Amino acid sequence: MDGSRLREYWDWVAENSFHIRQSRPTVSDIYYRHIVVSLIEELTSGLWWRILKLDAYNEATSTQYGFHLLREGRDLVLVDISAGIAGRAAERAMEKNVYGSVHMIVGDFRRLPLRRDCFDMTCSFGSIEHVADYQRAFYEQIRVVRPGGEILVGVPNIANYSMRMLFTKILHILGPMRKVTNPERHFLPSQLLSMAKRLGLNSLVLSGYHLFPKQLRWLDLWLDSRGRNSMGKSRFFRWLLKTFTILEKCHPFTRNFAEMIIVKGVKRGGQGRELRSLEGEVESIEMLHSAT
Ligand SMILES: C[S@@+](CC[C@H](N)C(=O)[O-])C[C@H]1O[C@@H](n2cnc3c(N)ncnc32)[C@H](O)[C@@H]1O
Repeated sequence: MDGSRLREYWDWVAENSFHIRQSRPTVSDIYYRHIVVSLIEELTSGLWWRILKLDAYNEATSTQYGFHLLREGRDLVLVDISAGIAGRAAERAMEKNVYGSVHMIVGDFRRLPLRRDCFDMTCSFGSIEHVADYQRAFYEQIRVVRPGGEILVGVPNIANYSMRMLFTKILHILGPMRKVTNPERHFLPSQLLSMAKRLGLNSLVLSGYHLFPKQLRWLDLWLDSRGRNSMGKSRFFRWLLKTFTILEKCHPFTRNFAEMIIVKGVKRGGQGRELRSLEGEVESIEMLHSAT
């Protein structure tokens, strides 16, 4: 899909998605955020001040991973193709009193309007799989991070035990998913890892997150959209969320079967400096890809 049609679609989502209109976090939002923030702490050095995060959707809704990475002296840049979603995220940044450290760019993450080497860390959690040329978006995350900087990329997991891929396909065919998101590509852990290797990252670590069944997450959000906080009030549901969270934290092998997989890598010193233009850089990567 070209940039203008993508923008139109996501601006329409910004207007119509119940998730974006949500005024307070549901119980699963709180657990989802806690898991991602502690995974980032586990996988990275924490020695970063300038952070780039692809897409502003989490910050426009109630998971808000990006805002929770902010500490004294840190700056967060969010890039989203939709002015509607970026605008909602900016409103939430104001509500949270972090507006001064959050910088919004409305643009396409496949062509970041940013110079190379200007971030200490770049991350995306469920972003690049929303475009057919996902590898370009991954590459862009690497291009703008400084040599030695850290890169995190999370994508949906084919090997998820609760069959996320099958259920999202069914929900797309039946219709209810269209107001929330476009069809996403799912990956095997080995595919994500080899993409990161092909793009030249060092010190790779593969992990996963969100072991809790996706179907119950959807149910929680859907009930909330109907004005019913039944999942939040259910002691059983809260117990389930807690149990799955403890499981994925204490037994990392279970993360192989979580909803999402994530790779962390470090940019090599001086990588790609001989290439002049972004076009040239991307073409070289694509040639490398087709040659292997
Ligand atoms: C479904 S949401 C992401 C979900 C979120 N990261 C999460 O895990 O809950 C997809 C987001 O990516 C943005 N997006 C999609 N394609 C994009 C592109 N090519 N450039 C920039 N943003 C894009 C959309 O506007 C939307 O905010």
